[in-house]
Amino acid sequence: MFPRVAVIGAGAMGRGIAQIAAQAGSRVTLHDTNPDAVTAAMQSIGEQWDKQVGKGRLTADAASAGKACLRGATQLGELADCDLVIEAVVENLQVKQQLFIELEAIVKPQTVLATNTSSLSVTAIGSALQHPQRLAGYHFFNPVPVMKVVEVIPGLKTDPPVCKQLTVYARQMGHQPVQAQDTPGFIVNHAGRAYGTEALRIASEGVADYATIDRILRDQVGFKLGPFELMDLTGLDVSHPVMESIYRQYYEEARYRPSVITAQRLAGGLLGRKTSEGFYRYVEGQPELPPEPPVPPVAELPPVWVSPRAARRAELYQLLKDLDAKIETGQTPSTAALTLVAPLGHDVTTIAVVERLDPARTVGIDLLLEDAVTRRRVLATNPATRPDMRNAAHALFARDGKAVSVIRDSGGFVTQRVVAGIVNVAADICQQRICTPADLEMAVTLGLAYPLGPLALGDRCGPTNVLEVLFNLQTVYGDPRYRPSPWLRRRGAIGLSLLHEEE
Ligand code: NAI
Repeated sequence: MFPRVAVIGAGAMGRGIAQIAAQAGSRVTLHDTNPDAVTAAMQSIGEQWDKQVGKGRLTADAASAGKACLRGATQLGELADCDLVIEAVVENLQVKQQLFIELEAIVKPQTVLATNTSSLSVTAIGSALQHPQRLAGYHFFNPVPVMKVVEVIPGLKTDPPVCKQLTVYARQMGHQPVQAQDTPGFIVNHAGRAYGTEALRIASEGVADYATIDRILRDQVGFKLGPFELMDLTGLDVSHPVMESIYRQYYEEARYRPSVITAQRLAGGLLGRKTSEGFYRYVEGQPELPPEPPVPPVAELPPVWVSPRAARRAELYQLLKDLDAKIETGQTPSTAALTLVAPLGHDVTTIAVVERLDPARTVGIDLLLEDAVTRRRVLATNPATRPDMRNAAHALFARDGKAVSVIRDSGGFVTQRVVAGIVNVAADICQQRICTPADLEMAVTLGLAYPLGPLALGDRCGPTNVLEVLFNLQTVYGDPRYRPSPWLRRRGAIGLSLLHEEE
């Protein structure tokens, strides 16, 4: 426990950190160069506590104790007796370095210094200090009291006991600490790269519109917000620079490549909810969503034939039986049959050509994830698919009331591409030993609110399926962004989320 804590910067982050530190029982001093920011923050924290008392989540005594623990300071000199100083000022290397230089002249030699930087190197910030061994990254998420994870980041010169102390204190504040190496984006902002960038790439290819991509990822994988809804919520003024920054800091690694879509929309001021127009338009705070395409009326469904090379073929047969389809079992489809393929990573057109199927009657279905765990089925046509076959497939797979989206042909559907991207980036985080696999899973579920950790998600899809998607996407696109991480290749056969600490 740090009995006396200073928080510098009374903005969105500083006030949240001050709140949880005071709740943990530390005496907290909040400082900002702008005295009005301190007053506003103190008032806002007090209101938060009162609200929690109103909801029965906090006792009146605890709220009073919190308020008694919190004070504002207009001068840096007032922080002299603190045991821990957490900096949450503007994201600027020179400003942060200068602040820590001044602090070193004020605080005790044993005072721990922490920075809440989200994108700067902790080592670089520490390089300005006389004693960089006492500085570590302490990266919280917004809003701090709600997002219960904090990344603890040693710089290259940080003393290990400093991280240990910060780890223990995080738990005392009710947060889950995870330890990350000092690398661009640390864990959470690094692991979150594939979701937006791959979705943008899919949209840029005209495979599906923004709303369809959002629906697919919400309903098939269980994300709370689709990638475009999420970018609208965060605002492109925040998310596009993060995409650029991580890409550049990793020396233009293809996996993190940003999209021209967000660059252009940012330039045009279509930032998201905050400007009432982003990927969606917002009227009185509510997005205007295009309606779902209705299930086409089909008088009589044709018989269905399934490619012998379809993914999850036995499950697909069972599903077709459950949907009461007329199933053909011959070696080749009859001339009337709707021909189903379920590729992993490949496009439907290529499969039709390679398997010598009639493209006019061929439709693809995404079975990376088991049908039973999804709330939506996704079909893809190829440029030759006849409208009656498209409609028949749509009507058939909607028979039990499950939502169906029909998208244009591309390698890997929507879910395959996005999930394989997420799993691959996560695998590479493990390969680079940025953190342990267990901390990765924890950081992503708490920091990004994904329904599963990325490694568990890979296991749910089947690691060899994910690898197959990536190998085939590489063939389709010839793009190094789909190159599987060596860690994924090695773990593919045995499972990604094994908990023992391997190798
Ligand atoms: P903010 O703009 O809301 O607040 C920054 C505050 O710092 C302002 O009140 C400003 O007056 C004050 N300030 C600036 N220079 C100062 C100095 N030299 N000394 C004392 N006070 C100073 O910023 P926000 O969003 O709270 O971010 C703060 C830090 O936290 C940044 O490093 C940011 O990258 C990081 N961060 C932000 C997250 C977010 O979602 N907003 C998430 C995680 C980290």
